[in-house]
Amino acid sequence: MSKTNKSSKSQNLVSNILHTLRPNSKASSKSSKASTSPTNTPTMATTSLAGKVAIVTGSSRSIGAAIAKALGAAGANVVVNYVSNGAGAANEVVSAIKTAGPGDAIAAQADAGTVAGGKSLVDAAVAKWGRLDIIVLNAGIMGSKVIADVDEEFFDSHMQTNVKAPLFTVKHALQHLKEGGRIIFFSSSLTYATGPVDTPLFRTGKPQQVIDFISKQNPNGRLGLPEDIAPTVAFVASPAAQWLNGQNIRVNGGFTV
Ligand SMILES: NC(=O)c1ccc[n+]([C@@H]2O[C@H](COP(=O)([O-])OP(=O)(O)OC[C@H]3O[C@@H](n4cnc5c(N)ncnc54)[C@H](OP(=O)(O)O)[C@@H]3O)[C@@H](O)[C@H]2O)c1
Repeated sequence: MSKTNKSSKSQNLVSNILHTLRPNSKASSKSSKASTSPTNTPTMATTSLAGKVAIVTGSSRSIGAAIAKALGAAGANVVVNYVSNGAGAANEVVSAIKTAGPGDAIAAQADAGTVAGGKSLVDAAVAKWGRLDIIVLNAGIMGSKVIADVDEEFFDSHMQTNVKAPLFTVKHALQHLKEGGRIIFFSSSLTYATGPVDTPLFRTGKPQQVIDFISKQNPNGRLGLPEDIAPTVAFVASPAAQWLNGQNIRVNGGFTV
């Protein structure tokens, strides 16, 4: 596929997603009558997520767990997703959300790095609460190899987990995401860019010396923590951020400016 083709296809995809989430915009707003949708209502929007339903992929620990708890604390009902480490950690996150309130939560096992796994999470949310408002595509892999060592298997696994599965999960979710819906992607360089965060994913394979060096690159003199990331995701998911779209948000404590 040519670069231009790829780029126009992804532009079409983005515009289709936006069209679905903002049905009152552009071509779909045939009527000249002013819209009375919440998007156009000039009242101060809330940061509450009361009544909203959210999926956070990869949320049994680390950044995803902190996000799931932050969304629950803001009032959302949350699907807490895990893949391999048994239901224990995910159930702890679910209990923490239910105990703290006001949101509710369920645990769901699925490989969010597969198309079928992503779809099953959407179906679980809708089966439990009858709607879906927010998807945080947090599950991802971040292998580290110099280009000379990168093989097709390494490349394909990253594309499958970080690009293909999230995209088809969103495609399946579009039928449920209505106006005001939120799709929040995660990465180290695009969309929701966290910078180094102290989790197993970050620490694995790095000598302490390297971790210390990276920590000192931050003006705060430390790595980020999952709790540094989560509140901003809850904000972006809330009605108060309704005018925020298509941003690459760097939540990294000044690691890069
Ligand atoms: N940490 C950093 O420095 C950093 C920097 C930039 C970007 N990020 C991005 O932030 C996101 C979260 O990173 P993290 O550091 O919190 O990761 P982590 O410590 O490795 O935690 C991963 C979480 O995701 C779950 N998970 C992993 N693969 C999954 C899959 N295929 N399907 C469903 N759940 C899955 C794990 O569940 P199990 O326990 O069941 O395996 C666990 O709950 C990733 O997308 C990562 O690329 C992280």
